[in-house]
Amino acid sequence: MRPLSIGGSAALLLGLAVAAPNKPRAVTYTANQRRANAVKEAFQVSWDGYYKYAFPHDSLQPVTNAYDDDRFVYSPALLPRNGWGASAVDAFSTALVMEKWDVVDQILEHVKNVDFNTTTTEVSLFETTIRYLGGLLSAYDLLTGPLKDDEQDPAQVQTILDQATRLADNLKVAFNTPSGVPDNILYFNPPRQAGSTTNGVATVGTLVLEWTRLSDLTNNPEYAKLAQKGESYLLRPKPALGEPFPGLLGSKIKLSDGEFVDGNGGWGGGTDSFYEYLIKMYLYDPSRFREYRDRWIAAAESTIKYIVSHPTTRPELTFLAMWRGKELRFISQHLACFNGGNFILGGLTLNAPAYTAFGLALVEGCRATYTSTATKIGPEIFSWQDASQPLNATNNPPAPSDQAAFYASSGFWISSGAYVLRPEVIESYYYAYRATGDKKYQDWAWEAFLAVNKTCRIGSGYSSVVDVNKEGGGGFYNFQESFWFAEVLKYSYLIHAEDAPWQVKADHSNEFVYNTEAHPIRVAGGREKIRR
Ligand SMILES: *[C@@H]1O[C@H](CO)[C@@H](O)[C@H](O)[C@H]1NC(C)=O
Ligand SMILES: *[C@@H]1O[C@H](CO)[C@@H](O)[C@H](O)[C@H]1NC(C)=O
Ligand SMILES: *[C@@H]1O[C@H](CO)[C@@H](O)[C@H](O)[C@H]1NC(C)=O
Repeated sequence: MRPLSIGGSAALLLGLAVAAPNKPRAVTYTANQRRANAVKEAFQVSWDGYYKYAFPHDSLQPVTNAYDDDRFVYSPALLPRNGWGASAVDAFSTALVMEKWDVVDQILEHVKNVDFNTTTTEVSLFETTIRYLGGLLSAYDLLTGPLKDDEQDPAQVQTILDQATRLADNLKVAFNTPSGVPDNILYFNPPRQAGSTTNGVATVGTLVLEWTRLSDLTNNPEYAKLAQKGESYLLRPKPALGEPFPGLLGSKIKLSDGEFVDGNGGWGGGTDSFYEYLIKMYLYDPSRFREYRDRWIAAAESTIKYIVSHPTTRPELTFLAMWRGKELRFISQHLACFNGGNFILGGLTLNAPAYTAFGLALVEGCRATYTSTATKIGPEIFSWQDASQPLNATNNPPAPSDQAAFYASSGFWISSGAYVLRPEVIESYYYAYRATGDKKYQDWAWEAFLAVNKTCRIGSGYSSVVDVNKEGGGGFYNFQESFWFAEVLKYSYLIHAEDAPWQVKADHSNEFVYNTEAHPIRVAGGREKIRR
């Protein structure tokens, strides 16, 4: 068995997953107004730069004061954002929870005018769902819920839902395949599929919250049915190759029949938010999504049993390996660092403190990727040598010689040094804080925010940087990601802000569940139905 640094065996954890009630958790939160205001200031700077130089396009190029609707960032992948004002819609729910009403009004005005029938770029069903659909549904839920205001024109608020519906009506052509597994790539004018033959686990498995919410808000079951049909192939994977460990899957399924074509996976990009949404769907509505809960438990148990890993040079750190079939790869990503927060949410939701403890260990591992670098920001991709596997195993190579010293002190080496304004480490600090009330996590989030503010603030906003292990970040990509608004600024703010109905709760009183883009979505019925 692999060593577990948090104590307890996998068998014990298995028992606790369905354990009897334990003592109520009394968590107290302490707001820090000074820090919350500093994050708001960063939001305002980012928004002002975007609004002046890029709006109503998708993203700001802060170094050159220009805009972008399509983008090659640090990898040769094209990231189309459709030209519908991705940053504005992604900033919507953050402006709302910060109660920046002047910005809210600017975004509301924009949302009314977007033409969701037309775009010049390719459309990713997944990216469009998590950013645009998620952003609109969240704004609608906030403005009809805790931020309902008698001065707000109800017709304006209704427009948000109408626009979300129109967008989904244009996207739904994606699901018209033999299996019901959607084609992730669409072209518009008019909307049609690109003709893909496969789709990914994350891009199929990260639609269900948004599309189910839309059905619940519009009393039209069609949207939920479409997303849940695609998801069904992930909940009941076939053939066996697609599930190398119980609950842990490969990464691609066929549009023709929903069958897996590989058994290569991980908690990182391409598969990540499928696992994330399993437990979030149960929190959204425990009566409809028990199967999702059971699949999350299977994935969590297998993670603890088979893929947890500790680096040779700092065995106290806990990372998660990736897998190719049953063989592990000791490499992970900034993207995967949501895993700590997701285990913590699972622990809270299922009354399973062992999952919370495991999540807190993952949070510490991801923090180490921040504290060890020159900028105090973690890298895009990192690797290590596993302490429990033979050191001569072909899947367990040592650090490259130019990083041997760095590995000896840090417990990981850098496989890609970019930082593209990703949120996952701060996101997990947020869940750690909300679960424990321990101010240490607020301090960690503040340190991370200060490091990002110092390294990435440039020109009219904030930019992705090339190399976190060079003082100053080694150069700018000249790109302010829309998820900087939706996620980094939101979690950085909420961890210091006053308690509020949209904050994550440790005592089963959640009113919202966050989509993978950090847009808070109202849970079914308005309040968590799970009991201790
Ligand atoms: C825009 O899309 C919606 C939803 O698919 C559709 O009902 C409407 O007819 C379209 N409008 C135009 C002008 O094509
Ligand atoms: C690794 O080392 C062990 C013990 O020295 C040896 O038995 C084994 O054959 C080696 N494996 C490889 C892949 O070199
Ligand atoms: C963020 O960076 C700006 C520009 O360097 C600086 O003026 C501001 O004080 C920083 N914020 C914090 C909280 O340090």
